[in-house]
This record gives sequence, C-alpha cells and structure tokens, in this order.
Amino acid sequence: MPLRRRLLVLVALVLGACLLVGGALTYWAGLRKIELEMSSAIAVGNSTVTDALASIETSGDPATQLRRIVGAFDGDRHIVARLIGTDGTVKDVSRLPLPVDPPPAWLYRLLEGKIHTQSFELPPSFQHLGSITLEADPHNEVGEVWEDLKLKFLIIASFCGVVLALIYASLGRALKPLEDLSAALNRVGEGDYSAHVAEEGPEDLNLIYRAFNRMAGQLRTAEEQNQRLNEQLSTVQEEERSEIARDLHDEIGPFLFAVDVDAQSIPLLLSRNATGDVASRASAIRQSVQHMQLHLRGILSRLRPAMLIDQGLTHAIEHLVAFWRTRRPAIAFRTDIDDARFPAHIEEAAFRILQEGTSNAVRHGKPSKIGLTAKRIPGDALRIVVSDDGTGIAATAKRGFGLVGMRERVEALDGTLEVTASKEEKGVMLIAEIPLPPERRETEENTKTTSAA
Ligand SMILES: Nc1ncnc2c1ncn2[C@@H]1O[C@H](COP(=O)(O)OP(=O)(O)O)[C@@H](O)[C@H]1O
Ligand SMILES: [Mg+2]
Repeated sequence: MPLRRRLLVLVALVLGACLLVGGALTYWAGLRKIELEMSSAIAVGNSTVTDALASIETSGDPATQLRRIVGAFDGDRHIVARLIGTDGTVKDVSRLPLPVDPPPAWLYRLLEGKIHTQSFELPPSFQHLGSITLEADPHNEVGEVWEDLKLKFLIIASFCGVVLALIYASLGRALKPLEDLSAALNRVGEGDYSAHVAEEGPEDLNLIYRAFNRMAGQLRTAEEQNQRLNEQLSTVQEEERSEIARDLHDEIGPFLFAVDVDAQSIPLLLSRNATGDVASRASAIRQSVQHMQLHLRGILSRLRPAMLIDQGLTHAIEHLVAFWRTRRPAIAFRTDIDDARFPAHIEEAAFRILQEGTSNAVRHGKPSKIGLTAKRIPGDALRIVVSDDGTGIAATAKRGFGLVGMRERVEALDGTLEVTASKEEKGVMLIAEIPLPPERRETEENTKTTSAA
C-alpha cells in the first residue's frame, strides 16, 4: 500500500476509534441522565396526583376532577397520565408532545431502560370511576440524546474530514519529491544520467535529493568521460599504428634497402677478388643492422615497455630518451632517475607517465629541453616529474586520452597528479606522486627476479 494511503488509513482508524469512544461515553451519560430524569419526573407527578386526589372528596364532580388531573399532564414532556376504567379500558390520556425529529427505534431500545410507572387507587367511594396511572415516557429524553449525538457526530466527522484532507494535501506535497526521486532513480536505472530532482521539501529528505543529484552528476561525468575515452582510444590506437608504420617505413626501410644493395654487391666484388671492398661492404651491412637494431628496440619499447621495465626504470628511461634523441636531436634531454627498484606495478605506472609526458612535450610543446625525474621522496612516495620549456598547454587544447589515462593510473594507486606551468615559466610541468607500499619485501623480490633473469 502506498505510504500516503497507509497514513490516511491509520489516521482514519484513530479518528474512528475516537468516534466510537465518544459515542460510547455519550451513550453511558445518556443512560444515566434518562434514568435520573424519569425517576424525578415520576416523583414530581406522584406528588401532583397525590395532592389532587386529596381534594377529590370535597369536589362536586369527581369524574370531571379526575379528567382535570389527567389533563394537567397535557404537554408534559416526560409523564403520560391515564384514567383507567374499572374494565381496564383507557378512558382518558394526557397528551405527550413527541420530538419533531424522533430518535431511531434502535437508539430508543438501547436507551429506554426501565419504564417507571405509578398507579393511584381512588378512595373506596370513588373506585367505580376507575384509577389513575402515571408512566414516565423516555421518548423526549432519548430525543435529546439523539440531538446531542447528531451534533457531536457532525462535529467529529467534520473534524476528521478536515484533518484527513489536510494530511492528504500536506503528505501529497511532502511526498511529491519522493515520487520524483523514484522516477529519477528509474531513469538512472535505464541509463539516463540527466535525471535531476528539485532540492526542496523537508530537510531530511532534502539530504537524499542532494545526494542523488550528486550521484547522478558523477555518473553523467563518468559516462561523458567514458564516451570521450572510447572515441579517443580508437584515434590514439590509429595514431600509434601509423607512427609505428612510419617508423618501420622511414627508419628500417632505407637500411634494409641498403643491406640488400650491399649484400647484392658482395658476390660481384668477390668475383673480382676485391676483398678490401667486400670487407667495407660487410662493415656497412653491420652498421645498417646496428642502426636497425636501435630503431627496432625503440619501436619495441613503445609496444612492450614491460620488457624494458623488467630491467629497471633507469634502463627503460634510457631507451625512451634514446628513442626520442634519434628523432628529435635538437631537444636536450635531462634525466634524474632513482636507481632503486620499486614494486613492478609502480615502475610500470612511472614509465607510462614518463613516456606519455615526453611524447606530449615532443608532439605538442615544441620544447628545446625536456627533464625527466623519478625519485623517492620523504613520506615514502615516488615522485615523477616531466617538465618542458615548450609552448605550454593552450587554453583551447582538446582533452586527450593521455592526460586522463595518466590521472586514472595515478589515482588507482592512491597517488596525485598535477599538471602546472613549468618552473621556467614556459612549457608544462607534470608532477605525479605515487605512495610506496610500506613493506620492502616486494621491492626486494623484484630485484631478485631481475638479477636471476
Ligand atoms: N607538454 C605539453 N605541451 C603543450 N601542450 C600539451 C602538453 N601536454 C599536453 N598538451 C595539450 O593537452 C592536450 C591533451 O593531451 P593528451 O591528454 O595527452 O592527449 P593527446 O596527446 O592525445 O592529444 C594535447 O592535445 C595538447 O594540446
Ligand atoms: Mg598525449
């Protein structure tokens, strides 16, 4: 059952119970009142009739006197006087005014109680005229109780009506935001994170609405970010592939061609017995192969950095720098990498940050200097810095996958990432701090595996 209906039923039950108790009290009071009224009415009637009968002997016309006694009760609200003949028939009866709105029969039956009657014997010489009886009739009293009940019922019923209407209206207003919240939660359940609820109404509910809006906002941001990342991931992969293809084509291709040419010339030179030339061709081939090896290692380090990192961060960074030095000889690279070993996942994160930071600096910043640092700092954290003196991040720069991915990587390790203007007031300074786990054993194991390999 909905909350509003449940509350209304509860309040209606309480009010109904009040009505019942009120009815019961009125009934009880009515019973007592009727009993009291009837007995006192009969007492008064008794003395009236007794007085009147005392003077009957002196009256000239006792029959008329008797009718007069009965007639004296005409219009009495509680007493009916009857003149009963010797044969038991009613010869005369007083007129009882009945209530305009008579009480229902069931109420009369409930309230009438014991009917008080009183008979008066006439003196022996008048007994042939019959006798007089008085009967207390509770109709008028019950009528009064009935009027009272109706009025009380009307008041309580109107009170209940007003209370229920007020509760209905105010609950409707108070619960409206809850209904909105339920609709909004449904929308979120269906993946629509634009859902929002008005932050109004009672303070305790308001807290829930605020929390919901915050949650929906975060889901919205996460979804947007996800979408952007997905879009960019394919672009980045595409870029990465074409860069590797370009490397293979531009750097490896010409040397392969050179090796081919040198190798082809060797048989000819041998047939001419030009051994000196053969030796120089062989040395040219070696040089070409060494050159290719260097480039291949550069390409491999981009594809499989884990292989490099296995041999330590310093080694991996040397490769990274060598890779860029051959491509951007004009840029001066400065490195300051701790020789110590760190847990493997932290070394990999550090390498990825240094790799992406360097690639960003080279690709976007046109710098003349790039500095790479990875050092343990007090408080047991690894501080990774990539700084350049390039153009800096333009205000119009698109949010890319690199920086976002870097931040996610750092935050997953409970670290922080700061991207600020470089100290040289030019370029970009990227500072990541990753806390190191307290125990050293992992690091030691890492060192052992490396030395074993
Ligand atoms: N060192 C830097 N110098 C200049 N601009 C930068 C630098 N690093 C990042 N940016 C800017 O920030 C943007 C986002 O970088 P990133 O998230 O790595 O994405 P991407 O490199 O794929 O464009 C870059 O497109 C670039 O405009
Ligand atoms: Mg990038």
